[in-house]
Amino acid sequence: MSTSYRLSGVLGWPVGHSRSPLLHGHWLKRYGVAGAYVALPVRPEDFEQALRALPLLGFAGCNVTVPHKEAAFRLVDRVDPSAARLGAVNTIVVRPDRTLEGFNTDGEGFLRHLEASAPEWRAAGRPVLVIGAGGAARAVVGVLADAGVPEIRVANRTGARAEALAAEFGRPLMAWPWSHRAEGLAGSSLVVNTTQLGMDGWPALDLPLDAMPADGVVYDIVYTPLETPLLAAARRRGLATVDGLGMLLHQARAGFAAWFGVEPVVDEALRRAVLGEE
Ligand code: ATR
Repeated sequence: MSTSYRLSGVLGWPVGHSRSPLLHGHWLKRYGVAGAYVALPVRPEDFEQALRALPLLGFAGCNVTVPHKEAAFRLVDRVDPSAARLGAVNTIVVRPDRTLEGFNTDGEGFLRHLEASAPEWRAAGRPVLVIGAGGAARAVVGVLADAGVPEIRVANRTGARAEALAAEFGRPLMAWPWSHRAEGLAGSSLVVNTTQLGMDGWPALDLPLDAMPADGVVYDIVYTPLETPLLAAARRRGLATVDGLGMLLHQARAGFAAWFGVEPVVDEALRRAVLGEE
């Protein structure tokens, strides 16, 4: 094997459902890269050893998924600010001295997909409503605050979590009462569902869209199904919609570029490949 052959993969438990091998596999083929990206099922109790083995096995890096993102944050040698803010790592790069550097590309993936799909959201300079206050919400509110959104309303079923998040970030975040979440749409340029509600096997998010301005954008980070009940309702009202698949595709870019040395493009062909349609 030539020394320029590059290896990467995704560590998770379970990992069989991950679409990352399809995604990176498509890019490897498309750019003619000599390398491979594999799914690596690693039990939580084995994670540290598996991670430490990566440089020894010649891996250029890896992705990390459920349930290892917080453990990866603790175990890597260095983290960048995106990972530090979230306390979670989803992308690891092995440096030439064999140390591990951790990143979190979820926020970047979220924002790049929004900019690519509905750039008009930003022109409005209006409040944004974020549903949920878990790990995905942290990634989303961080990049929205960086993007200069003047007011980020966080509505969460467990109000104390929204309040804790708002206290941690300070302005422009504010905790919004869950029982009044629909009113939080008033005047907004964007609403983002960061919860699992609407995913296959989960109840739909109950959020009447009547108060949403006609030029507002509705973004659901769920991508199974691609059209959640929330996005279907938005489409019926003629609102711009953004689905969660693009976030997955965009968050993968930085890792691919670092491991394989090519800046990849997110487009319709990649989307089809990841959906298993090619
Ligand atoms: P993730 O890291 O994927 O965001 P998480 O930290 O478990 O996962 O957060 C899940 C989010 O979905 C939370 O905001 C959660 O609300 P609570 O903090 O009240 O648990 C939200 N969520 C999950 N199930 C929900 C439900 N049935 N109704 C409303 N919100 C729900």
